[in-house]
Amino acid sequence: MLNLGRPRAQPRSTRSMPFGGMDYPDTKKKSSFVGKILLVAALTALCILMLKQSSTFNSPSPFSRHEPGVTHVLVTGGAGYIGSHATLRLLKDLHRVTIVDNLSRGNLGAVKVLQALFPEAGRLQFIYADLGDAKAVNKIFSENSFDAVMHFAAVAYVGESTLDPLKYYHNITSNTLVVLEAMATHGVKTFIYSSTCATYGEPEKMPITEVTPQAPINPYGKAKKMAEDIILDFSKNSDMAVMILRYFNVIGSDPEGRLGEAPRPELREHGRISGACFDAARGIIPGLKVKGTDYDTPDGTCIRDYIDVTDLVDAHVKALEKAKPKKVGIYNVGTGRGKSVKEFVEACKKATGIEIKVDFLPRRPGDYAKVYSDPSKIRQELNWSARYTNLTESLQTAWKWQKSHRDGYGTPVASSY
Ligand SMILES: NC(=O)c1ccc[n+]([C@@H]2O[C@H](COP(=O)([O-])OP(=O)(O)OC[C@H]3O[C@@H](n4cnc5c(N)ncnc54)[C@H](O)[C@@H]3O)[C@@H](O)[C@H]2O)c1
Repeated sequence: MLNLGRPRAQPRSTRSMPFGGMDYPDTKKKSSFVGKILLVAALTALCILMLKQSSTFNSPSPFSRHEPGVTHVLVTGGAGYIGSHATLRLLKDLHRVTIVDNLSRGNLGAVKVLQALFPEAGRLQFIYADLGDAKAVNKIFSENSFDAVMHFAAVAYVGESTLDPLKYYHNITSNTLVVLEAMATHGVKTFIYSSTCATYGEPEKMPITEVTPQAPINPYGKAKKMAEDIILDFSKNSDMAVMILRYFNVIGSDPEGRLGEAPRPELREHGRISGACFDAARGIIPGLKVKGTDYDTPDGTCIRDYIDVTDLVDAHVKALEKAKPKKVGIYNVGTGRGKSVKEFVEACKKATGIEIKVDFLPRRPGDYAKVYSDPSKIRQELNWSARYTNLTESLQTAWKWQKSHRDGYGTPVASSY
């Protein structure tokens, strides 16, 4: 507590001692006057400080107001693999980003990396929320001024979707409806939606174009197709700018090694081929199982279209730039070149430098021989094409991150490979 006005009681011996030609009563008067001045000064300083602080508290957060020249993007699922890479690119491009994620699958570690790279006020905020909670989503939209939404958040494993279909319809279809309703209510005008080649099912003709009929064969693909249908129906009577991007198989990671793909260990069994490659290289699983060697393809194994996450994120940025009110753009995001599973395995061995054991097994039901895109529409309309995708190099980049992050985003470790 401040006690500047009343000098402490002097020791008796000093009280009556003449000092500098003045006697004691005069000194006391002066020191009480100085004390009062000091008190007033201190109180004034305190008031200024309090006023300053209260004005900081009351001034609107930069996330709550639109700023000319700054695009504020809500990135749902920004703690996940693709969403975190997209956030990095948006921030590098000087956009403002709000990540909303329930961390059910993503990593807070990825958000921390992004926050450390962009610590300035008004660049990045993270909101922990579940998109299934419409009230929470509505609150987020009412407290923030978004210019666009990139909706990545989803559960995204084909195998898991066949075991727990309701989870997929809820998480993908129903949550997309929640996001779209909030956007409509709060007048957010640009929507970029993460869709998938799984919405096409097993088309007879390759390559897949955007007009290839969609006939998904698993709950994951069906849930995404339903979400697309909801978006398309809504957009018929709205001035929203919509871009639907149907990704093929995503691989790779940040070329500068800041971010990577780190799915939960319990999801490994449902995982994707690149995850399996790295797990096999690390010895977490005994080797790779190639299911089916008698498909109608040059080497008998299935063919897929792999796209590097850096290229994919670039497609999102181009989609954001070219999005137009009342218009819907639907685009395949792939290279247009298929690679066989055998080619993938060879690339994986080369990228990791490890002689991975490979077992060749009979076909797995539900797999189709060839899936690859025709990316001419996105090239013509968005001026996008895959520039970074090279199977071995993309895997090499991802492997580098995997080696130095053996616990994912848990604890970075010095590479021991
Ligand atoms: N990875 C691929 O090869 C691929 C291919 C095609 C399409 N996609 C799509 O891309 C998107 C991102 O995929 P990813 O590979 O980055 O997946 P991911 O699991 O790494 O990221 C998804 C993120 O969404 C979050 N999330 C999930 N449900 C949520 C909810 N209810 N509320 C809030 N946050 C929630 C998770 O916590 C996670 O951080 C998904 O929509 C997926 O369907 C991915």
